[in-house]
Amino acid sequence: MQPFRKERLFFTLSHMEKVKILDLEFSSFLTKETLESRIAELAEAIDSDYQGSTVVFVAVLNGSFIFTSELVKRCRVDCEVNFIRVKSYENTTSTGKVTEIMGLESDLRGKHIIVLEDIVDTGLTLDTLLRKFAEEKPASIQIASLLMKPDKLQFPGLPLKYIGFEIPNDFVVGYGLDYNGLGRNLPCIYTLIMEKEG
Ligand code: XMP
Ligand code: MG
Repeated sequence: MQPFRKERLFFTLSHMEKVKILDLEFSSFLTKETLESRIAELAEAIDSDYQGSTVVFVAVLNGSFIFTSELVKRCRVDCEVNFIRVKSYENTTSTGKVTEIMGLESDLRGKHIIVLEDIVDTGLTLDTLLRKFAEEKPASIQIASLLMKPDKLQFPGLPLKYIGFEIPNDFVVGYGLDYNGLGRNLPCIYTLIMEKEG
């Protein structure tokens, strides 16, 4: 491995305007800097709201892995970090059911839970998870999601307290989010370029 040199910083910070993943093209939408400064605000809000308590973060894999690490490393409140895995998307649309849930911890009783998601779309995934968690009688449950599509939401009762960005309905990738498994490593969020009709 080469030693780190200052000149390389340019490449670390710059990003591509457009990317192609499989058959689809995406354009740059939210930069790394925009994402990180908003995540810092979310961490500050969580620190202030949970002062003196211990938070149990439950990160929903796979999509939330970058958001989770960027958020928790900025939080100063005492916290545990747990991971669960669910799946509800195929290609670029929701299958309408949560097909897999793995790694659910069962000692949530009396704990302050914050569920970490990459994106809230219809809200089905979180509604399913929160119902399961509620059975364990936690002291409180909140949601922190990097992104949300307000016009798609079908579960208005969800406790969506910490939302990074409200975005349009278009499909997005990068920063943990994928298109058929690819694109999770992109350092910022990209949005699908729609074909113009006619
Ligand atoms: P629901 O409908 O359950 O969906 O709120 C949430 C899950 O669906 C995935 N999702 C996306 N993944 N780009 C993605 O890469 C998107 O635009 C998108 N919208 C939803 C995601 O896994 C999320 O946890
Ligand atoms: Mg997800």
